[in-house]
Amino acid sequence: MTKRLTLAATLTAVFYLSLNMLISSPIRAIAFINSDHQTPAQESKPFDQQQKLQELRKQIAGQERKPAEEVFKNIQILKGRPAGAVLSVMEIAYSKSLGVNCTHCHVVDQWEKEDKPTKQITREMSAMVRTINTDLLKKVKNLKSETPTVNCTTCHRGQVKPALDLQ
Ligand code: HEC
Ligand code: HEC
Repeated sequence: MTKRLTLAATLTAVFYLSLNMLISSPIRAIAFINSDHQTPAQESKPFDQQQKLQELRKQIAGQERKPAEEVFKNIQILKGRPAGAVLSVMEIAYSKSLGVNCTHCHVVDQWEKEDKPTKQITREMSAMVRTINTDLLKKVKNLKSETPTVNCTTCHRGQVKPALDLQ
């Protein structure tokens, strides 16, 4: 009798505890409910860029020094770069300098696809930067640096649309 009562009490406690968790943490609850579906639930979950980068670093572990095109599926402009460096380019040169996260250019986990125009724009921006650095800046005489350089940050400074004036 007492044994059964204890069991009932334990079950009730567990029930209220989980109920409480579901109510107090709707985001976690949604993640929990969706955890065994592969539905596009990721759209409703907040995107965790650090966690995603960690996941990708794990996926390419041991292959960081291989050329990017051997490790990833659709590399066009970063050919020859070490695969490990690609993820740093994504995090720092692309995301941070534009003040965006991966979803500005990618559908999460479909990295090789061309779903968003911003991905191709980035390749063309990269070509523009190369032309500025290897051609146009070289023609400007009497600059202070031996190799004057621009990069994404020079124009974007944490914004998608570079400023045209100083506020
Ligand atoms: C401003 C646009 C932009 C942002 C932001 C961006 N990427 Fe990319 N990503 C690209 C481009 C462009 C390529 C293809 C590079 C090439 O053609 O060599 C790419 C390629 C990749 C690839 C290789 C996919 C394959 O198999 O070919 C991965 C993985 C990737 N990105 C992950 C990320 C992650 C993770 C983030 C966030 C930390 C991120 N990207 C942010 C533009 C972006
Ligand atoms: C010389 C200045 C300059 C440099 C350097 C530069 N950009 Fe841009 N970028 C622009 C301008 C200007 C636009 C157009 C903004 C607009 O729509 O008016 C733009 C737009 C973009 C867009 C489209 C943004 C959107 O969501 O509409 C992306 C993506 C982008 N740049 C990525 C990059 C990346 C990545 C680099 C470095 C490889 C880079 N840019 C370097 C000037 C620059």
